[in-house]
Amino acid sequence: MGIVYVSRKEHFNAAHKLYNPNWTEEKNVEVFGPCANTNWHGHNFDMIVTVKGTPDPETGFVIDLKKLSTLIRRDVIDQLDHKNLNVDVPFMQDKMASCENLVMEIWKILQPTIPKISKTGELYCIKLYETPRNFVEYFG
Ligand code: NI
Repeated sequence: MGIVYVSRKEHFNAAHKLYNPNWTEEKNVEVFGPCANTNWHGHNFDMIVTVKGTPDPETGFVIDLKKLSTLIRRDVIDQLDHKNLNVDVPFMQDKMASCENLVMEIWKILQPTIPKISKTGELYCIKLYETPRNFVEYFG
């Protein structure tokens, strides 16, 4: 009954490379193509965070989107925007800097904090666009 899915879209720019240090240069280029470029490359990421819940009778909101935006910016965007995912971001250390790994780390950050700003809302999905055509979705 009455479950509504509420989403907020945010944006950040970040650099990375996909490179497995256990492989030869040739194998990295074969598997990752231009994403293995030694001197990094950047993407304009879009991220859509979806919270599900029942609307609070007092506000009519599942979650206050202004609060959700502030939370995403403070806890995620500020950690990632204009950063190098391989080098500058503590929670991506020692991981392949793929969209798949990134979206799972973002989930770990946001999932516990959503209940602090919403009575009924819980994190439902994070959709991360690396390019307008390439994106990943994570449901926890
Ligand atoms: Ni890339």
